[in-house]
Amino acid sequence: MYSSLIVILLSMTCGLSSGLWTDNQIPKRRISQLKESDVQRFLGNETDSDHFKLLEQDGDSVLVGATNIVYNISLLTLNENKRLQWYSSDDDIKMCKYKGKSDELCQNYIRVLSKRSANGLFVCGTNAFKPKCRQYVENSLEFELVKELSGEGLCPYDPTHLSTATFVDDSLYVATVAGFNGADPLIYRLPLRTEQFNPKHLNAPSFVNSFSHQQNVYFFFRETAVEYMNCGKSIYSRVARVCSNDKGGPHKFRNHWTTFQKARLNCSIPGDFPFYFNEIQSTTSLVKGIYGGHNAQIIYGVFTTPSNSISGSAVCAFKMDDIHKAFDGSFKGQEAIDSNWLPVPSSKVPEPRPGLCVNDSRQLPDMTLNFHKEHTLMDMAVPAFWSSPIVVQTSFKYRFTQIAVDPQIETASGKTFDVLFIATDDGRVIKAINAASGALSGHHYHNTVVPIVIEEVTVFPLGTVITNLLVYHTFYEAKLLVVSNNEIKSIKLFHCLAKTCGECVALQDPYCAFDLARQQCTSSRSRFWNRDNFVQNVEDGWDPRCPDGRPPPTESTKMLSPDPQLPPQYAPDDQNVIDLESTQQTPIYTGESFALAVTTSVITSLVLGFILGYIFSKRCRKEDPNICSPYDDPHQYLDGRLAASETFQTQPPVNNKPINLVLTTNKNSKNLNLSVENKPIQKVKKIYL
Ligand SMILES: *[C@@H]1O[C@H](CO)[C@@H](O)[C@H](O)[C@H]1NC(C)=O
Ligand SMILES: *[C@@H]1O[C@H](CO)[C@@H](O)[C@H](O)[C@H]1NC(C)=O
Ligand SMILES: *[C@@H]1O[C@H](CO)[C@@H](O)[C@H](O)[C@H]1NC(C)=O
Ligand SMILES: *[C@@H]1O[C@H](CO)[C@@H](O)[C@H](O)[C@H]1NC(C)=O
Repeated sequence: MYSSLIVILLSMTCGLSSGLWTDNQIPKRRISQLKESDVQRFLGNETDSDHFKLLEQDGDSVLVGATNIVYNISLLTLNENKRLQWYSSDDDIKMCKYKGKSDELCQNYIRVLSKRSANGLFVCGTNAFKPKCRQYVENSLEFELVKELSGEGLCPYDPTHLSTATFVDDSLYVATVAGFNGADPLIYRLPLRTEQFNPKHLNAPSFVNSFSHQQNVYFFFRETAVEYMNCGKSIYSRVARVCSNDKGGPHKFRNHWTTFQKARLNCSIPGDFPFYFNEIQSTTSLVKGIYGGHNAQIIYGVFTTPSNSISGSAVCAFKMDDIHKAFDGSFKGQEAIDSNWLPVPSSKVPEPRPGLCVNDSRQLPDMTLNFHKEHTLMDMAVPAFWSSPIVVQTSFKYRFTQIAVDPQIETASGKTFDVLFIATDDGRVIKAINAASGALSGHHYHNTVVPIVIEEVTVFPLGTVITNLLVYHTFYEAKLLVVSNNEIKSIKLFHCLAKTCGECVALQDPYCAFDLARQQCTSSRSRFWNRDNFVQNVEDGWDPRCPDGRPPPTESTKMLSPDPQLPPQYAPDDQNVIDLESTQQTPIYTGESFALAVTTSVITSLVLGFILGYIFSKRCRKEDPNICSPYDDPHQYLDGRLAASETFQTQPPVNNKPINLVLTTNKNSKNLNLSVENKPIQKVKKIYL
């Protein structure tokens, strides 16, 4: 009795500590140790901290900013091709230390770089808290300094400050902070900037990415929300844009953008009380693809909850078309300083409408510019593509930090999928797809999310924050570059670790198909030459051509094949016969139930932790110490458990974590008024325990 209680408690805690993936978002494979031969490494300076930052891919090389150095690293071998060294002068270092900064900060961290021509290089560094930029010309042996200029507004003072830069038509667009104390955030392109110290323009932002698209340059960041009028403060994620032919306004608007606009990004689990992931951490670049039969340009982003709250992470996608719609919609405005932020009626918007790309912005009337000064925020938040996150996770162990995408990977059926690589702050990389992204209208998956978490790979020791990811294709291969502060590794994009046909198809990995001729799970490119020989079904995870592959049992399949030992009897290409919806559901969590799940899991773990601690402290003292071992090393236990569950069953993995119970039993209790900040702990406790 006593021991069975412990077993139950243990399995619950392990389920919780492994992270609360929502239904069917448990990784199908966990790879905790990569083969040495599958990994390439670059260590940089082995004695000092490098603070690597990926700056630019240059053919089969990549340029990486580091402490006092730009490394040119071969993507084929991860060996150093060349380096550019730029140390701060003794005077600058002395002044930096005099102003109270540490030895570590008083170095030159290279944060901005652009290859301007075949042999020209533009580089900016923090230069011991006195940012500078330099123009170099590369000759056969070395980099020759051509010009040096102030980096104020082009590069942050503090290497840890998040900023982003992009070159468009020979002009550098930077989103960063100026000033020694970092109090002056700006989006800058000589000579135009956002208004200084105007919180309606930028309010303590952290910038994560930027790129140009058509006539505009887009910036992604998070900032303190001016429109949030409740007590306390809240951070929201934004997309902003400026027009690349903005010339500034007349007279007093001379050095200011006339086209700067921003909109909120909405990454949330829908419901009566949506659960928001408010803080953007990174984005991919723009991806062109076919989704549900339609062409679209989208970006993927990683979003998290605030660092001082329950840790939750999500990946959302946004369509460029939806971003345009938000910018074409109403402005958000405030009548008086303490009134609510409301949509501005279109009758109050002057002509020409502020924010549009015009031929000569210096001729804009004051009406337009005065309105623009107060109205840069759009009323509509940009909705997430497919209306919900693609991957959601809460974990006590880690958060998502970075994302990269290998776009539109073609499968044996000719369908294409974006493969997402998501990095965490504890050394792992997760590979995931939206299996429904190809479903055509009429299909019950159309316009929905069916998240498939294919694998989770431990790339760096636990506790290592992954700071950059890059999917790169060379002539020979495609790989994933994984960057931490002090080490860079490249790993394979796929592992195809499956023995049988059924297991291989069940991976739902767009890279992996089962070769019927050679009887192996492979990523061979030849699958495109002879599709009939290769079995793959990314959407459903099974195929009747695999002797061991069986569809998930549902009402309809039960009727079709009453004997579960017999293969199903229907035509292989008529997949609509199976009603997949009833078993392999899309995550149907609502915002409330998710908040509830998160809260309860935290409470449970606290309570369980206490009980377990108490029980084990009593038992361990006098009994067999082996009983304690699974708890001492939860990873080992966890990996064992997962390895066991890796043998594929006919049934889809059933999530037997206690939290689901709560979710389903509480779906109707919408009057709980839940939010992350405001948790009705008593009520939840009562329901759950
Ligand atoms: C490592 O960095 C330190 C400090 O910048 C420098 O003195 C040392 O020479 C570097 N070592 C190598 C191998 O580059
Ligand atoms: C980096 O190294 C490669 C190979 O040596 C070279 O082709 C490329 O031009 C280099 N890039 C820069 C910016 O130095
Ligand atoms: C964000 O999206 C969710 C779900 O699509 C929606 O319920 C919610 O109202 C949206 N929030 C905002 C601020 O637009
Ligand atoms: C803007 O400039 C382009 C080319 O310089 C010209 O064709 C166009 O008519 C101009 N538009 C306006 C509204 O002046």
